[in-house]
Amino acid sequence: MRLDVVTIFPEYLEPLNVSLVGKARARGQLDVRVHDLRAWAHDKHNTVDDTPYGGGPGMVMKPEPWGEALDSVIESGEGQPVIVVPTPSGRPFTQELAVELSEKPWLVFTPARYEGIDRRVIEEYGDRLDVREVSIGDYVLAGGEAPVLVMVEAIARLLPGVLGNAESHRDDSFAPGAMADLLEGPVYTKPPEWRGRGIPDVLLSGHHGKIARWRRDEAFRRTVRNRPDLIERADPAAFDKKDREMLSILGWGPGPDGRFGRVAPDVEE
Ligand code: ADE
Repeated sequence: MRLDVVTIFPEYLEPLNVSLVGKARARGQLDVRVHDLRAWAHDKHNTVDDTPYGGGPGMVMKPEPWGEALDSVIESGEGQPVIVVPTPSGRPFTQELAVELSEKPWLVFTPARYEGIDRRVIEEYGDRLDVREVSIGDYVLAGGEAPVLVMVEAIARLLPGVLGNAESHRDDSFAPGAMADLLEGPVYTKPPEWRGRGIPDVLLSGHHGKIARWRRDEAFRRTVRNRPDLIERADPAAFDKKDREMLSILGWGPGPDGRFGRVAPDVEE
């Protein structure tokens, strides 16, 4: 997969040289190219921003440097990239979108600073290419570079051969499949006792069926506590008899439409 990032802070993307993404680059599984937007700003001060039409606070990124930068990046490769524009006003970045983007051969990220990029840039490329405006969460950062790091890591770990073990993302929270719509429960490793705290006996039992059930029960506990909205939205057909028993213990039951909601006060541990 090829990834291009156009930014006024190329050094902000240094973490792409480290850890999982850095290793994937070193192995040739990822071709990452970081470009300085100011290379396409031609005045004495390499200006990339200007005051907003209509007034208001802050500055807006000028269209000309972005247009030249994107033309140049797009011309440098084969075929058409998907352009990912990080913005707090975008669609939410989810595991589902990470999976979709991980299947594309080429992504171009356009992290903005200031109040964002002149709208005409998004329209211009949106007419010709697949352009996605994406938010990583309901908070406002100073720029899109940190969101690019977040998205690239979520996407890169899904590429074939990038994580050591192909099974590693099967049980991820939000991964499609058996544990869909549930958060992952707690995990333990050696030593068997630490500061007087042991390991749940079932994990030492060697009984795979019981372990799987315990993990799913713990996933319900955690999801009910941290993300009750996930249970409320879940398709109740995904819940088997044991799931329903656990949900009932946690104070949850089906409503008139079959979907689950809280029917008893929260159980504190
Ligand atoms: N730029 C600033 N805040 C952002 C956010 N939450 N998501 C994506 N890009 C952003």
